[in-house]
Amino acid sequence: MLDWSNSETIVAAPPAVPSLTTLPPKSRLTLEAADPTGLGAIDRAGGRVSVDEKQMINCRADVNQLLPLKYKWAWEKYLSACNNHWMPTEVSMQSDIALWKARNGLTEDERHTIKRNLGFFAASESLVANNIVMAIYRHLTNPECRQYLLRQAFEEAVHTHTFQYIVESLGLDEGELFNMYREVPSITDKAAWALKHTQHLANPSFETGTPDDGRAFLRDLVAFYVVFEGMWFYTGFAQILSLGRRNKMVGIAEQYQYILRDESIHLNFGIDVINQIKIENPHLWTSALQDEVRGMLRDATELEAAYGRDTMPRGFLGLNAVLCEQYMHFIANRRCAQIGLAPVFAEVDNPFPWMSETMDLKKEKNFFETRVIEYQNGGALTWE
Ligand SMILES: [Fe+2]
Ligand SMILES: [Fe+2]
Repeated sequence: MLDWSNSETIVAAPPAVPSLTTLPPKSRLTLEAADPTGLGAIDRAGGRVSVDEKQMINCRADVNQLLPLKYKWAWEKYLSACNNHWMPTEVSMQSDIALWKARNGLTEDERHTIKRNLGFFAASESLVANNIVMAIYRHLTNPECRQYLLRQAFEEAVHTHTFQYIVESLGLDEGELFNMYREVPSITDKAAWALKHTQHLANPSFETGTPDDGRAFLRDLVAFYVVFEGMWFYTGFAQILSLGRRNKMVGIAEQYQYILRDESIHLNFGIDVINQIKIENPHLWTSALQDEVRGMLRDATELEAAYGRDTMPRGFLGLNAVLCEQYMHFIANRRCAQIGLAPVFAEVDNPFPWMSETMDLKKEKNFFETRVIEYQNGGALTWE
């Protein structure tokens, strides 16, 4: 049985990390000459890349040579992501439109939660996409990881498209929703917290290489993969899927299930990247940084609790701010375990075990598998 909220990550065995002095002369030349962007002058004498030369960060081996693969977990996630392809416009919004327009279809509390939820995601998907393209990609010096990042960036575009489609379908105020990350303090506070961890990486002169810069890169990965996509998105999923379970806004709920499936892989990719960087660069993962990261997860949980109170001031059936805060404690502890840290909160039960059940119901209908087959057929027809 798939458990989406608790999905585990598999970390590759520690590789032998080459040093400049142990590599053969030709490889040394490559490490000194090649450009981590992959856009520098071609090194005609550099030689072919061997698996041992590949590294997650600070690699000077040719980043334009995907093969031979070193990190098979990255390639497998790329393949899984491609098999999960979907588009928001394939989901019917008819019943959502009818419910949204019906005078008594939803309570005011439910409408408030839905709008704030959509507003949070609408800009967050772009923030995550920009972080991948403008900050992470340049510094993650491994071609199979970059292959996955390119796929992830496209998926974030699909997710942003989802919110455009929802706004258009329901006739919502696009300015209100897409500006909530600027105008609603509980949403602004989360976005601003994440952005402060990426701003210096986006600086063109930033390069990993020193311990301080390596740690800055890890903080960005924690802020965006572990916190943004791995914690904050999960409250958002719980809010909408809770309504979906009661047959409300089922079109959006279905779209959120697709997004959740994508985000589950994004999160696990980020966890694998962080753990692999730790293995290859143990000097970066000091006890001071570990304490700092645990503090980041605590701060992120407080920001999420404030967001929960703001989006659900009174709550509604089966969902309220107190339960969401408990859920964040549960999730934060799980994320700590996934990156090898002690829990930050006392042990709590998952208040939303139905999150995984909701996904399983769809699996029983063979829903996702059918969608994949349809895509393969559709692709063939398009080319005739
Ligand atoms: Fe996304
Ligand atoms: Fe994502």
